[in-house]
Amino acid sequence: MNNLNRFLFLLAFFSFSIMNAQDPVTFRVESQDFALVFQTDNLQRLHQSYFGPRLKNAAEYAIVTEQLRYNGTNEDQFNMAYTPSGTWNVSEPALQVLHADGNGSTELEYQKHSVTKLEDNVQLTKVELLDPLYKTQVNLFYKVFLKENVFEQWTEIHNGEQGTIELKKYASANLYFRNEDFHLTQYSGSWAQEMYPETHHLTAGIKVLDSKLGTRANLYSPPTFMLSFDAPATETEGKVILANLAWSGNFKFEFERDRYDNLRLIAGANPYAAEYFLKVDESLETPHLIFTYSETGIGNASRNLHRWARKYQVWDGMGKRKTLLNNWEATYFDFDEKKLVSLFEGAHELGVDLFLLDDGWFANKYPRNDDRAGLGDWQENKKKLPNGIGYLVEEAEKAGVEFGIWIEPEMVNPKSELYEQHQDWVIRQPDRREFYYRNQLVLDLSNPEVQDFVFGVFDDLFTQNPSIGFVKWDCNAVIYNAFSDYLDRQKISQSHLYVEYVKGLYKVLDRVRAKYPKVPIMLCSGGGGRVDYGALKYYTEFWPSDNTAPVDRVYMHWDYSRFFPANTMCAHVTEWSRDASIKYRTDIACMGKLGFDIDVEELEAEELVFCKQAVKSYDTYKETLWFGDQYRLQSPYDHHFGSFQFVDESKDHAIWFSYLVEQRYEINYSVEPLRLQGLDPDKNYQIKELNLFPGTTSPLDSKKIYSGDFLMKVGFNPDVSRARNSVVLEITAVK
Ligand code: DGJ
Repeated sequence: MNNLNRFLFLLAFFSFSIMNAQDPVTFRVESQDFALVFQTDNLQRLHQSYFGPRLKNAAEYAIVTEQLRYNGTNEDQFNMAYTPSGTWNVSEPALQVLHADGNGSTELEYQKHSVTKLEDNVQLTKVELLDPLYKTQVNLFYKVFLKENVFEQWTEIHNGEQGTIELKKYASANLYFRNEDFHLTQYSGSWAQEMYPETHHLTAGIKVLDSKLGTRANLYSPPTFMLSFDAPATETEGKVILANLAWSGNFKFEFERDRYDNLRLIAGANPYAAEYFLKVDESLETPHLIFTYSETGIGNASRNLHRWARKYQVWDGMGKRKTLLNNWEATYFDFDEKKLVSLFEGAHELGVDLFLLDDGWFANKYPRNDDRAGLGDWQENKKKLPNGIGYLVEEAEKAGVEFGIWIEPEMVNPKSELYEQHQDWVIRQPDRREFYYRNQLVLDLSNPEVQDFVFGVFDDLFTQNPSIGFVKWDCNAVIYNAFSDYLDRQKISQSHLYVEYVKGLYKVLDRVRAKYPKVPIMLCSGGGGRVDYGALKYYTEFWPSDNTAPVDRVYMHWDYSRFFPANTMCAHVTEWSRDASIKYRTDIACMGKLGFDIDVEELEAEELVFCKQAVKSYDTYKETLWFGDQYRLQSPYDHHFGSFQFVDESKDHAIWFSYLVEQRYEINYSVEPLRLQGLDPDKNYQIKELNLFPGTTSPLDSKKIYSGDFLMKVGFNPDVSRARNSVVLEITAVK
């Protein structure tokens, strides 16, 4: 910038500031109950001036800042709507840009904002900010789902300079919460131990949650958190935010407590090893942060998020789901055509909708007989399946069930024909040793040819077998040796790989969904490794964990269900804990999207009768479970049994699950009633026990009538005990 330009810029800058000095712009982004308010200062910088319950008199939003007494120079910097770096800011930035001339300073001035009503319940606010010196444009987007109190926020950064700029940091959201105390609940884990919660008080400094795994973030940590204000919120009390970054790659959440004890949240794709270059006139749209806020506890926040997810985000979120029998734990890789056909009969006998063929059906030169070979070679294994998938689809249909199939199209075993032919498609460092996760590597989805290949895996299956009724899409490996031959050839920086991988995946899934809108697809990732609302835009459901031990699933359900509705959470009856009764295992699976992963022939006669009856009952209450409101009545963490209730919209029907998780002598039965929630106090209800094992009767009187008022104020004792360690109750309004 030469001196004349600098002079003109300063002139414009001062006249603009003076012109507007007395004239701050105030605007708000509002849901039904809450408001996010913004205001400009005399330098045209945009602050987030308020977040909380809506004010009755909207004109008063403009005077919120009059109540603040920041007492030092530059102390009003913390609550910026989108914090730049290299100028006045000394806190964690949302944006860090290296401009074309190598200068690393950015200022953002408010230009204008606009509000568009997308539909009755959905509003989009676009806020335009501009660096007056470098013409870097930043647009902030806030989409609000009014009734659900859900906010979706993202950013678009545009290069208006004459040369390429480098984005060193490009957050999706920058939020500011005024409060004394904050308690963060974070989730972590590893394979088969997903979603372990920890809650702690946020102290001064920055707390970071992130992933650098490239693909399956939730191997260690999902892009999800819960933030309580004042004290850790309970299910029914407290101020709390539930958030999820809709992004299936690396993420970063930074929680910075400032010197006023307020909290700055910066959330987005992880900038680690991911500097993003924008050529002249190019833009980058960041991932979307989804969050909801409640002042009446976690349960209310979850119900809002569930309603939003079903209606607006999850693929076919309001559609029917299919119950199934999966062969993974029954056979692992050890099966042939005859064995599979014999299992179809079991699926039919159980009464489920479909049979799901898992891993191990493909590859010939390097047959997929274990997890060390064959991944990438998606031709039926001739030895195991001499008549191909088509024959299996037909036989399943003859047996009265649909046929579903497992794929893991993003991955490759080094021992495969695909790897031999296309090393250039594999994410790997060309001159270094390879590292494997589950003996496999990740294909380079930044490469359009690889995108075609991955789409082709799905498309070929359906072109040849159009009546396949279900797909389980797995994703087991993390990204090691992050290097893309494609980006190298295109002279695109390697630091684009993490972002381009996810964008490439979404491009493939867009094509899959455009062509196959009706197929239910399960999002699986070596258990629950990839669980986020970015992916769930394409998938109907997800596999929470390979850990199907029933007790563990009670805890996992407690935590996952804070963020995800029951119709998205697959739950299978397996042999993982054989010591647990089939009733206990089935009752727990009945709380999610029900499936079985057992050899039906191995069930005792009474067990089979029980399972068939459980599937039949499930069919009668599944709509309440899938589309109703969930109330987590009692936590398995603090009590000897966990309890979960689902109520349909009319409040005429509810289903209630209780599971003993503690075996110690003194505390292994329900001493007192549990207060139900969400019923109509003015309606009368009868309570009937379901899923009774053959030969047992219920101690509960299903004829007795209770008012909703009684059930919610006094409660009801489900009679959980060691002998009745799982209890499923149906609550029906008496007409
Ligand atoms: C991991 C999944 O979580 C399992 O359910 C199973 O599909 C295996 N992969 C197959 O390799």
